[in-house]
This record gives sequence, C-alpha cells and structure tokens, in this order.
Amino acid sequence: QNARIKIDLDRKIGEVDKKIYGNFVEHLGRCVYGGIYDPGNPLSDENGFRLDVLEAVKGLNVSLTRYPGGNFVSNYNWKDGVGSKEDRPTRLELAWSRLESNQFGTNEFMDYAKLMNTEPYFAVNLGTGSILEAQQWVEYTNVESGPYYAELRKKHGYEKPHNIKYWSLGNEMDGPWQMGHLSAEDYAKKAREAGKLMKLTDPSIKLVAAGSSNFYPGANPMHWNRVVIDELKDVVDYLALHMYVGNVEDNYYAFVASPLVLEERTHLVKGMIDEAMTRANRKGKDPIYIAWDEYNIWYRWRSSETMSGDIALEERYNLEDALVIASFLNAFIRNADVVKIANMAQLVNVIAPIFTNEEGLFLQTIYHPLALFAQYAHGTALDVFVDSETYNTGDFALGLGEQRADLKNVPYLDVSATVNGDEVIINVVNRHKDKAITTDILAFEGEFSGDFEVFEVNGPDIKAMNDFGKTTVETKSKSLKGKGDKVTYAFPAHSYTMIRAKI
Ligand code: AHR
Repeated sequence: QNARIKIDLDRKIGEVDKKIYGNFVEHLGRCVYGGIYDPGNPLSDENGFRLDVLEAVKGLNVSLTRYPGGNFVSNYNWKDGVGSKEDRPTRLELAWSRLESNQFGTNEFMDYAKLMNTEPYFAVNLGTGSILEAQQWVEYTNVESGPYYAELRKKHGYEKPHNIKYWSLGNEMDGPWQMGHLSAEDYAKKAREAGKLMKLTDPSIKLVAAGSSNFYPGANPMHWNRVVIDELKDVVDYLALHMYVGNVEDNYYAFVASPLVLEERTHLVKGMIDEAMTRANRKGKDPIYIAWDEYNIWYRWRSSETMSGDIALEERYNLEDALVIASFLNAFIRNADVVKIANMAQLVNVIAPIFTNEEGLFLQTIYHPLALFAQYAHGTALDVFVDSETYNTGDFALGLGEQRADLKNVPYLDVSATVNGDEVIINVVNRHKDKAITTDILAFEGEFSGDFEVFEVNGPDIKAMNDFGKTTVETKSKSLKGKGDKVTYAFPAHSYTMIRAKI
C-alpha cells in the first residue's frame, strides 16, 4: 500500500514568518575573518568583503542575520569595533581563545547586511557587559542625532541611523561556559533592566530573551525557561532557544529523527508561554514567540583544540546532515504559529553552509535545503496528514555529552506544506536509507492543475560530501506529471524533495 500525504487548504497552522530563514555571523574561527571579510584577497572588494562569498550568501535569501555572537558577545565591548581602524584595540578573545583585531565591527557588519539584503539582529553583552553599554549601543545605532553616541556614529561616517530592530538580551546565559553566566533569576533581573534602558532609547525595537541552551546532565532547562518567561513576559517579544545535534554514535535513523526533539521542545515552551500568559490574563495580547536563533549540526569539531584559535570549528557536512536540516525547517513550518525566528548557526566556515579557502569556496550539502526553503516555502503553513511506515530509534545521544532521546513511531516521511495564493509547496524528507517510498499526494479539496516543479536534494549515499571542485550533493530538478485530486510520486531513499504544485 502506498504512503499518503493529504493536503487540506483549510487546515491552517499560521503564517510562515520569513525570519525563520535567518542566519548568524559570529566572530569565531574563519566566519568573519577569512570568511565574509578578507581584505587583501583578490576575490574581495575595496571594503574587504569577499565577493564570491557574498554571491553564495545571496543564494540563501537570508532574511535576518544575528551578530556578533554567540559566546563571543559575552565579553565583547562594541566600542572597540567602531571608529578609525588604526585606533581599534586588539583584545584577548576569551570565548574562542584568539586575538580579536576589531577590524570588523558594527558599521562593517551593517555595510555587509545591506549588500546581502538582510535584516540585522544584534546581541548585547549581558555577560561581562553592563546595561549601560547595551543602552549606548542602541543609541549609537538607532538614534538619529543629538546624544553623544548618535553623534559619534555620524563622526564615524554614518549620518543616518542603522535602525536595528531586533536585539537579543545576551547569549546562552544559562550555560556555565558562558562568560558572566547567571542563574535564571539573576539573568531575568539584568535582562529586564537592560531591556528597559534599550527601549527607553528606542521604543520601536523588539527584544529577545535568552532561553534554554544547556541540556547537559545536571541542567534544568525548563526551569530556566519558566523563570525567564515569567519574569520577562512584559519586556520581551521572543524567547531564544538553541539546539545542536550530531550523529555521535553513527546511528543514521536516530540522527535523522533528531529534529523531532526540537519540535518536542517547541511544544513544551509554547505550553509554558501559554500558561504564563493565561495566568497574567494576557492571552492573545502582545504574544511571545519562539526564536530558534541557533540550530545546526555540530559534533565533529568539538574538542578543546578544535574550538580555539583563528581556525576553529571547520565542520564538513554530508548528505545525512542535509536531511536533518530539511527536517529542522519542516519542524519550524509545522510550528509556524509560534516559531517566528530561526537562525542557522552559522553563515560561513565554522559550522556553516558555505566553506572557503583563499582561492574560492564550495557549497556544503546543508546549503541546498536551506536555499530551497528560503526561496519558496512562504505563505501559510498547513497541517498535513501523513500516513507512512514508522520506526523506533531506541536510546541515542542527541549530541556530545548532552541529553539522550528515545523516539517511537518516527514516520519515514517527514513532511511540511505551505500555501501561498494558488501555489502549494510540499517538503518531504524520505528518511528511509534504502527504499524509495511511493506516495499518493491527495488534495482534500480542489485539484492539482498538473503544473508541478520538483526539486530534489540527494546523493549517492548518506555520507556523500561536497568539497572544493567536487559537487556530489546538490539540488536537481525532477519531473512529476498528473492532475486531479491525486498524484503519485516515489520519494527516493535518503532524499529531500520539494514539490511546487498549483491547486
Ligand atoms: O555557534 C557556535 C556557538 O554555539 C555559539 O557561540 C554559542 O552561542 C553556542 O554555544
């Protein structure tokens, strides 16, 4: 019997916010220096921006880009990175054990954000930084003229304010690895006051609180979320969650199911937000949304030697990683009512879809699903009925040293869908390692017009990788014919397929 996917245009989940196709630039390894910014390289423009990288970045239609960290931000003084480049201090960078030259800072990032056509999303330092420094940064970037820091920006050559709308209040403040790590209660107090000063400076900004990122043994991530939501519900617009997964036990079926744990955490936090809002009699008013503002696969470069210095985190991705990314994106769409921001961590090199050396770049496997989703999967998310065979994962490690999971009844087909006008986008990951899955795609009401475009991300085997001069995993066009209320398609083994249909 064929598997079934049923598309019902009346079963709407919510609007897909284009900010779920965000990304992240941190001062880490070769993400900034040697990644997007490489002065002196013949491939760079007069400002030092690598033009080949910029072109690849544009292919991702990055809606929202987080900057400048990450762990880096928790000991970053933004004032070191503005003004004349000769006068900027070189600092000891403690998050990733390197020297920070500060040749790239706020204004360079904003110049780059314009080129890549992305909305900026800044994180303030709530580790070693003060609430006053956070306020002054907003003054520098967002106030037109008058006060000292707005005038300083003008002196630095930026007459008009940058108007940065999205600001996160610290990074992973629940993690003992974070410089200036706080308890949930202490974090909430500091974030509340920082947010207050920042909003007094520019009331139009949107604030993001640091939610749970620490799932190591002994942590209590849901306690952290509960306190932060409760204490900051009048202050923030989003709660940030982070998740990295990895195939540490070389267990393919468990690994490709791991995005379901992100979905489980989304549901838990959604319930907590609902509960806090109901208790405060605020349901429906000024909602708090979820920002998955760091997600990716990261486990290969995770020892202390590979996490420090100018070359740190040089993760190379394979086909199974691309399937995991497609399933993360499916999970965001299936929760479009509450997940309104998501940022792949990160944009270039380190743990990213684009990988450079001095002579060029290649697109990693994970580039391809992200590019397809960001280009086409917009509009309203649909609640899709899926009937496919299932499997159990058994107990497995989600990542290095982190929590374990044990998932039951994982469907081989992982599906999401969106509708935008008369266009329906259906995203299907076939998790089966060896078998194509023949599937009836049914339109509950209306009919498929027969105009299909099909894209497939696949490769010869699950460990297939790309490299300089070698593209093994990429997007290919496929064909699908048929019309009426049912079409049948065989989703190949270990593949991600996007179908563009008209109903
Ligand atoms: O993205 C790499 C690091 O992962 C970030 O700096 C930090 O926030 C997270 O732990």
